[in-house]
Amino acid sequence: MTLTVSVLKMPYDEKLLSSLESIIASDPIADTLYLALKHKYYSVYCHCVNVSCCTYLLATKMGLPEQECLRLTLGALLHDIGKINISPKILYKPGKLNKEEWSVIKRHPVNGINLLNDSKLYHMVADSIRYHHERYDGSGYLEGLSGEDIPLAARIVSIGDCFDALVSFRPYKKILSFEEAIEELIKSKNTHLDGRLVDMFISIAPDFYKHHYHPTYFPLSVENSNKNYSKFIINEDSELEINWEEILDQLPDIGIILIDRDDRILFCNNFAAKLRDAEPGELIGKTIIDIQRPHRRIVVKEKLAKVKSGQANGWERLMARKGRYIENKYIKIADEKGCYSGMLMLTMDVTQGEKLLRMLLINLEKLSILAQANIFLKKVFDLEDTLNNTAALISKVLTLEKLWLVIMRNGEINCFQEGEQPLNDNQREELIKKCEKLVQNGLQEIIIEKWAGSKRIFIFLESGDEFKGFLVVETKGTMHIEQQEQDLLKVIGNYVAYAIKKLLFISRVGKFGNERSINESLQ
Ligand SMILES: [Fe+2]
Ligand SMILES: [Fe+2]
Repeated sequence: MTLTVSVLKMPYDEKLLSSLESIIASDPIADTLYLALKHKYYSVYCHCVNVSCCTYLLATKMGLPEQECLRLTLGALLHDIGKINISPKILYKPGKLNKEEWSVIKRHPVNGINLLNDSKLYHMVADSIRYHHERYDGSGYLEGLSGEDIPLAARIVSIGDCFDALVSFRPYKKILSFEEAIEELIKSKNTHLDGRLVDMFISIAPDFYKHHYHPTYFPLSVENSNKNYSKFIINEDSELEINWEEILDQLPDIGIILIDRDDRILFCNNFAAKLRDAEPGELIGKTIIDIQRPHRRIVVKEKLAKVKSGQANGWERLMARKGRYIENKYIKIADEKGCYSGMLMLTMDVTQGEKLLRMLLINLEKLSILAQANIFLKKVFDLEDTLNNTAALISKVLTLEKLWLVIMRNGEINCFQEGEQPLNDNQREELIKKCEKLVQNGLQEIIIEKWAGSKRIFIFLESGDEFKGFLVVETKGTMHIEQQEQDLLKVIGNYVAYAIKKLLFISRVGKFGNERSINESLQ
């Protein structure tokens, strides 16, 4: 596969990142893993973006050919993809890891290349993933390679990897200043890192740190905070048990309004309504202009037009009633064809100053994921696509014969099947009955049972009021399923559950572009 180089000769910015992401999106396996990582471990995703930026700057500084720069940057963006099936309890453990936990962490490079084995990007990124924890003096893992035996791609990635870890928050260490981090890099010359590359990196490090570095946020635990915001910040420990609707409804200091392409309000949470002395129900259906005070109407109209056409970045700060300061952020939403289909408007009360603002911005980062509709809504709405990707991933773990998705919601049962032979009515009924029984028994685990010479594996999709469901996988009868494979199936199950929950949430909140009803999507 040849990479297009049109994205090169540009600073590492959102445009380059989105070009890299569209290369990833062209490959279903890499794309599914990348999106799953982004939504499961947002902090690891931010780290990968930082490392890929360092890699881009360093590779360009070294004068490597353009294709090579792009290849290495892409490898860096995926270097920690294998962390996706590490438990958050280990990944975010604040103290020292025990021997067993450490051995789980050390598997992530090999997990990564195994997961990407059938991806067409594999050959471009394998070195960066497999060898990024090798050390120059041979003391690293996986293979204990040393010096120039370590592929150049991995030696470059490990410098960004190291620098980003030093200047960022990790549960087990303090954040180092820029100067302290550079000192550490110098100490690692020719022990941990390739000294010649460190020297080159030091010359571009100020540019990276000043202009490109994104702080990575880790989940805050409730105990660490006396504010009740923390419980609304997505807690990655909860293994994706995220109820977006609840979060949006209850965020104490972020007003959320969702408008359609005609500026009509589709959704409004309590805080947004309170700011306007109203109840949410009174505002839904009106236009966003209607609910402004008279002197704001023209201003808001102009602002919306500018944001829609891309002339404004969507931020505004204003003084509200009773001496309060309000910040608004308008986030455009596009449908799957990329056409404008509405806007998410976030209102924050920033009267209490910067600290609060920072807390709210953390929320905002998370919420903007919801609104990053171009790629994401497509994934959410196209359940078939999600399931096909899931089938491709499961096939990497097991010899997959058949895959079904069974969802029980509001007393209705939907059954989706991947593959050629549809279930006949009896088989369908039988499968659904079995799933109902498992739900009644409160099943939370993976269940494996014999089925007419094959095996059936029921992967429980996260329970909740919204839906209960299963991925049902049929495999060859002799298959033995290891703990690690079970863990991975659980991760895949979580990813599917997450996509479905978003689908259910968004379809309840409002009608977008080409939205199909849930029943249609699932049949
Ligand atoms: Fe790593
Ligand atoms: Fe890393």
